Amino acid sequence: MKAIVYHEYGSPDVLHLAEVDKPTPKANEVLVKVKAVGIGYGDVAARTFGNMPPSEFNMIFPFWLFARLSFGWRKPKNPILGGEFAGVVEAIGQEVTTFKPGDAVFGYRGQSMGCYVEYLCMPADGFIAHKPGNLSDAEAATIPYGGLTALTLLRRLNIQPGQRVLINGASGRIGSFALQLAKQTGAHVTGVCGTARVESVKALGADRVIDYTREDFTRSGETYDLIVDVLGRSSFDACKPVLKPQGVYFPVSFKFNVIRQALWTARSSGKRVRIGLSDEKPADMNTLRELIEAGALKSGVDRCFPLEQTAAAHRYYESANKAGNVVVIPAG
Ligand SMILES: NC(=O)c1ccc[n+]([C@@H]2O[C@H](COP(=O)([O-])OP(=O)(O)OC[C@H]3O[C@@H](n4cnc5c(N)ncnc54)[C@H](OP(=O)(O)O)[C@@H]3O)[C@@H](O)[C@H]2O)c1
Repeated sequence: MKAIVYHEYGSPDVLHLAEVDKPTPKANEVLVKVKAVGIGYGDVAARTFGNMPPSEFNMIFPFWLFARLSFGWRKPKNPILGGEFAGVVEAIGQEVTTFKPGDAVFGYRGQSMGCYVEYLCMPADGFIAHKPGNLSDAEAATIPYGGLTALTLLRRLNIQPGQRVLINGASGRIGSFALQLAKQTGAHVTGVCGTARVESVKALGADRVIDYTREDFTRSGETYDLIVDVLGRSSFDACKPVLKPQGVYFPVSFKFNVIRQALWTARSSGKRVRIGLSDEKPADMNTLRELIEAGALKSGVDRCFPLEQTAAAHRYYESANKAGNVVVIPAG
């Protein structure tokens, strides 16, 4: 079968078309014909990790070290990228009862990757669920990573109706779902993003959109109960003036100084820093499906590229022009 492989870290040019063996499902696995793969932060990070010093990584040094060891120190250990997919079940192992051939599915492989292929195997009790009936394959393939991360992180934050929430990074994979989930709770939500993504963030239901190239939300004078900062591009100190008296600054990406601030402010009855890691469970895939089918979550697609053009897809994903999600299509 066709796959996109890479054997060295670097630019999108390291991604090449290759022939690899088609997998065979084990007793507890399903074989999926892959119809769409969402490109996300993890794909680009894994592709470029050999050239990424700890200072350029958005998280604390131990996470950089762990990622470097798991991706491969000098060259990539796992030659196939792609962390989330949509497709159709082609065959099932003899112990599988929850899926049958022909079922439309979507799923998440996270850091184990391996989705830039025509076929892949997934444990039937893993991060795989029936695809929501109201989404295309391409749309469904852009849901799992950002949806699971936003769902599990926002559970901790217990947003209340009427609260004012700001998502810094609302056009990205995590932020777009954090925005929609916050709206679901009845919060008033402001999304911050770059110029080319303003319309797509409005379409997600943001009450207000701020283009970070034109306006600094920390100087706007508006105040918030919660600021979710996806890349940690702002800081607690910068956000303090626009946090309400008991407001929370929640950076999804964080370095050691933020952990110190989180510990320091933990018992404060005033403004606080909170941090957390996503802790998704396979059952959360079904929660996402239910939210999508109820119309509470959606995901738009900007451009799709055939598998053979995955390098071009990565180039477009990394460009400032992309208006939304970018998807690779292994099979029609
Ligand atoms: N805490 C956890 O458990 C956890 C779990 C998974 C991932 N993460 C972290 O989450 C991060 C990736 O998030 P993601 O996948 O959502 O990334 P993404 O899809 O690349 O989105 C990044 C977002 O940040 C925005 N952005 C870029 N520069 C900005 C700036 N200067 N000011 C404000 N916003 C800016 C982008 O806006 P435009 O594109 O519109 O410019 C976009 O909305 C990584 O750092 C990763 O380590 C944390």
